[in-house]
Amino acid sequence: MRHIGLTILAALLFLAAGAQKAPKLAQTPPMGWNSWNIYACDINEKLVKEVAKAMVDRGLKDAGYEYVVIDDCWHGERDSLGFISADPEKFPSGIKALADYVHSLGLKFGIYSDAGWETCGGHPGSRGHEYQDAMKYAEWGVDYLKYDWCNTEGLAAEGAYLTMREALAASGRPILLSICEWGDNDPWLWAQDIGHMWRTTGDIYDEFYGELDHGTWSSWGILNILDMQEGLREYAGPGHWNDPDMMEVGNAMSVNEDRAHFSMWCMIAAPLIAGTDIQNATEEAVEILTNEEAIAVNQDKLGIQGFKHSAADSLEIWYKPLADGDWAVCFLNRDAADKEVNYNWKEIDVVDDFANRETKFNKNEYEIRDLWKHKNLGTTEKTLNAVVPSHDVLMLRLSMK
Ligand code: GLA
Repeated sequence: MRHIGLTILAALLFLAAGAQKAPKLAQTPPMGWNSWNIYACDINEKLVKEVAKAMVDRGLKDAGYEYVVIDDCWHGERDSLGFISADPEKFPSGIKALADYVHSLGLKFGIYSDAGWETCGGHPGSRGHEYQDAMKYAEWGVDYLKYDWCNTEGLAAEGAYLTMREALAASGRPILLSICEWGDNDPWLWAQDIGHMWRTTGDIYDEFYGELDHGTWSSWGILNILDMQEGLREYAGPGHWNDPDMMEVGNAMSVNEDRAHFSMWCMIAAPLIAGTDIQNATEEAVEILTNEEAIAVNQDKLGIQGFKHSAADSLEIWYKPLADGDWAVCFLNRDAADKEVNYNWKEIDVVDDFANRETKFNKNEYEIRDLWKHKNLGTTEKTLNAVVPSHDVLMLRLSMK
């Protein structure tokens, strides 16, 4: 009798454990910091700790930035059993100690690997070691894995990323999976249930518009990357986002360009992963990265990616449907000259078939809020008259009256 009771109890416990679902990650676009854009391979534990501390001190944590992610070049060797460890010179205390420190600040910790034999920087990749690596990451307290695609000859992307998803799941720790195969295999078509975000393009670099030719591949400017997002919005949503790459705010562009870059990443519901020198960034750069009204557009709980509604004479007008009937509107001036805007809302109707929403400016009156000046501009009853400076934006939130 006692034996049967125990068996039933064990079965119930087993069922309860199975029914306990993994927490849903990335219900809004992930926010954080990544070492690559600013430091490339030049990283070490002291630096990463200082950055994490600066994220708290300079208000990024309070603004919602959560993940501190080390990119390529943290690796040491694999041991005789194939387990990976950190470079003992750069990370003498080991990754677990670093993750513990990041956690002690109330932040989360991310790491980088590659589906191939070697990472893009020539360090050990995870091919053939996926489960071992996932086990190590979980043991270290990793919360986020960026998984790259260099040196993957002979591998199929969907299968390779699925293997890592399974390995992470088996590790028992919830770990966000950031897919980085540069959009080469149309990940938006297959990655919704595999990763939480997927890169849609090659690498970004810190110019507003341009191409940096590296021979066999190119890096792209902000507007080039933005243009490459065309046609992808319907694939994004809570738990699975298009990733137009880490931000370059504060790294080389003008304040106007940084503001435009950040605004557009908010409009297209991009993961907000800053690639900035957080400790030494200017006040303006930090102010841009921590603009809570712009971030609220990005983090809106509907999770709908914005879209370009019109474009003429290098001035684009983007719309993003928000919760509770609100809309974000962004006038993006790509031109070298300032642009005057005389926008008669009443002559415009914005229909978004994907989100099943319509502005109906003829019927609905909206309050207009300028999200950079932080002030109200009246309502959509009146024509909007404004000047959008060169390489800058006018970013608004419309709230139904
Ligand atoms: C690739 C990725 C970058 C970065 C580097 C690291 O180029 O796209 O984001 O991770 O590798 O080597």
